[in-house]
Amino acid sequence: MPPSRSLISLLVSRLAMGIVAAIVFVIAARLMHFPQVFQIMFVLYAFLGTLVYILLDAPPVTRLDGLKAVVALIAFYAVISGVFIAGANMLPQYDPRVEKGKIDKIVKPKMAATEKGRIEELLKRTEELNAHSQAILKRLETLGGASVKNIEASVKGKESGGPKASGAGGDLVALGKEQYELQECYNCHKVGGKGGLKKRGPHLDNVGNLMKPEELKEKLLNPRSYMAEGFEKEYNKKLMPDKYKELMSDPEIDQLVVYLSSLKDSTVETPKPIKK
Ligand code: HEC
Repeated sequence: MPPSRSLISLLVSRLAMGIVAAIVFVIAARLMHFPQVFQIMFVLYAFLGTLVYILLDAPPVTRLDGLKAVVALIAFYAVISGVFIAGANMLPQYDPRVEKGKIDKIVKPKMAATEKGRIEELLKRTEELNAHSQAILKRLETLGGASVKNIEASVKGKESGGPKASGAGGDLVALGKEQYELQECYNCHKVGGKGGLKKRGPHLDNVGNLMKPEELKEKLLNPRSYMAEGFEKEYNKKLMPDKYKELMSDPEIDQLVVYLSSLKDSTVETPKPIKK
């Protein structure tokens, strides 16, 4: 028998053994619930074993000398390295970055969910607070409205000797005076002989007797709505600023109106308002 024939029959018989061993390994591994990676590894071991048996039984090769031996050695080294690298590459790899990526994929949506939860909670709290402040504002407004009515009642009351303005009305007068100072109405107007250094606007000491609260509010929101008699020039120059509806909140305007309504010193001449 030529050596090539015996080598082929050896290869076939050993490979058959290796395949049988591999199948037995896989079945056993599956029965023992090994992960798939291990099943692949067992198959590889079976073939490695087969290779060892083939080498053990292989017919001796002819001895190589000199340059031939060096080339054969390098070729052998290259083949072994190639098999090793290719095999290692085919096995599942554990790249820390990939693993970290997987963990991030699991953890991030959870973190985002809690973050989202926190933001939603904050939004809900803001809404609650908003509703709360709205309720307070409404109460203030109804209080302010009642006080304006109180002032009106007190005007009529004074004339007929009735009751005076309530305590709440007094508080609002103080708040309104504060607004008068804050908005620097005194730059152009005099009250109680104070302010109006530039003498551009009329005394307001008796304005409470001349203008109703609604009229005063209208004048503040739109200075073009009324003109003080004798102040045509100033009115036409639009001296009284048209900015309070932007600068002041509704409750603040109401407070200021309450204060102006309380100015009822008929000894100080205040010009008559003319509806425009
Ligand atoms: C830059 C000057 C100026 C400022 C500031 C100003 N006013 Fe006047 N105001 C005038 C002038 C001028 C008139 C008279 C002409 C007119 O009626 O527009 C007037 C008229 C008025 C009148 C009508 C008086 C009347 O008898 O008819 C009222 C009320 C009034 N101002 C209230 C205020 C209040 C309250 C403020 C502050 C929030 C204010 N003004 C700020 C210049 C000013």
